[in-house]
Amino acid sequence: MPVKFRSGESIPLEMHKARMVQSLNLLPVEERVKASQEAGNNTFLLKNRDVFLDMLTDSGVNAMSQAQYAAMMNADDSYAGSETFYRLENAIKEIFGTAFFLPAHQGRACENIICQTFVKPGQTVIMNYHFTTTKAHIIRNGGKVSEIVSKEGLEVISGLPFKGNLDIERLRREIETIGSANIAFLRIEAGTNLIGGQPVSMANMREAVKIAKDAGILTIFDASLLSDNLYFIKMREKEFLNKSLKEITLELGKLFDISYFSARKLGCARGGGIITNREDLYNEMIGLVPLYEGFLTYGGMSVREMEALAVGLRESLDFHVIEQTPIFVEALTKELLAANIPVITPAGGLGCHVNAMSFCEHLPQGQYRAGALAIAAFIAGGFRGMERGSISEERNADGSERFAEMELLRLALPKRVFTLSQIKYVADRLTWLYENRNLIGGLRFTFEPKILRFFFGRLEPVSDWPQKLSEKFRKDFGDSL
Ligand SMILES: Cc1ncc(COP(=O)(O)O)c(C=O)c1O
Repeated sequence: MPVKFRSGESIPLEMHKARMVQSLNLLPVEERVKASQEAGNNTFLLKNRDVFLDMLTDSGVNAMSQAQYAAMMNADDSYAGSETFYRLENAIKEIFGTAFFLPAHQGRACENIICQTFVKPGQTVIMNYHFTTTKAHIIRNGGKVSEIVSKEGLEVISGLPFKGNLDIERLRREIETIGSANIAFLRIEAGTNLIGGQPVSMANMREAVKIAKDAGILTIFDASLLSDNLYFIKMREKEFLNKSLKEITLELGKLFDISYFSARKLGCARGGGIITNREDLYNEMIGLVPLYEGFLTYGGMSVREMEALAVGLRESLDFHVIEQTPIFVEALTKELLAANIPVITPAGGLGCHVNAMSFCEHLPQGQYRAGALAIAAFIAGGFRGMERGSISEERNADGSERFAEMELLRLALPKRVFTLSQIKYVADRLTWLYENRNLIGGLRFTFEPKILRFFFGRLEPVSDWPQKLSEKFRKDFGDSL
């Protein structure tokens, strides 16, 4: 809950207390350079023991509540027909108002099932913006992606409260040009991940879904980042100021033909699910669950996680729970803006997004500005973020680079995990890095996987810039870590 201090400063006050903690390790800067080399200069490949603040993602690493841990002890272990499943199914029915639920082990598993079922070769999926695994599944099934996010969505600095909104005129044009029969489905992603955790308004979703439905096009909602998006609908969309989170969620559940989610994000557990009110769609997808995930009453999830998820989903309707990430993102964004560091505005959900395109404008885009910034930030402060730029794209069919529209370093803020002093530390080290940004050099691939290369590709610096950066750190900070 943001509260005002006497100075007038607004502070994101935590409405919870920590009763279980994990020790952290902050390596000296020279060892951070060594660890980044061993990790092929890819923050995904760092060992967590070498990381001080793990801001790679919120996925599966949000803090759980005591009620979630307690529920785990109540799990019913059974291959088929487990009581745990019915408890989770009931929670989902209650929260989304949907009749059918297919469990899956995580979000991309839902995407696999949805894309195998509904994407035919040559068809297009229209969406506000892609997520990496979503696009990979669509392409693997012979489909194409058409992104129609509002033009402000791709602008770094904007005052638009819902930058994840779809451009409605473009949606109409795309349907007319491509033709409904060639469109697999319309996909709307809550809390649009790759453009800075930016929300979509209810008004925009209603309008887009109506247009799609009138044209006979299936509508699918990626609700993985729903809790941040719920917060913004409530805070930024007048109509919902006095509506409960439950009412908003129920409306969303009913709006779309199908919704799916990564429960590593939504519900602060580990798993996933597909929900729908349409029995025909449920029946089309059902066969793939036992094939890829497991029996219909667990879908690859452990029963303990399912119990935690049932509680976590209900807790996602508690305003103090869902506000935690957005108010911390806002606090970090404010600190960085005060130091003139380029960041995505307005502050969104998920994490703070540093604009590497201009932070590292001295580097050619082909030397991976966001990837280089991610490694430089780890060297400067021991915190790891995630590259969300050209490394996260795949090459074009002819082997040329597909440069990302945005080069971002995402510093994810998993729910209820970090403290304000840790946030201030990150801002301090990033400010130092910004002042020394000319020391950041580029990267090049030494091993480049074809699919989702950002996960386990390895890179090397184009010069000895990491050592030079580390020497400057020593000079400026002396013995301090
Ligand atoms: C919007 C969105 N969709 C889908 C996924 C995939 O979910 P998972 O990581 O559980 O496979 C993610 C994960 O980050 C996501 O952010």
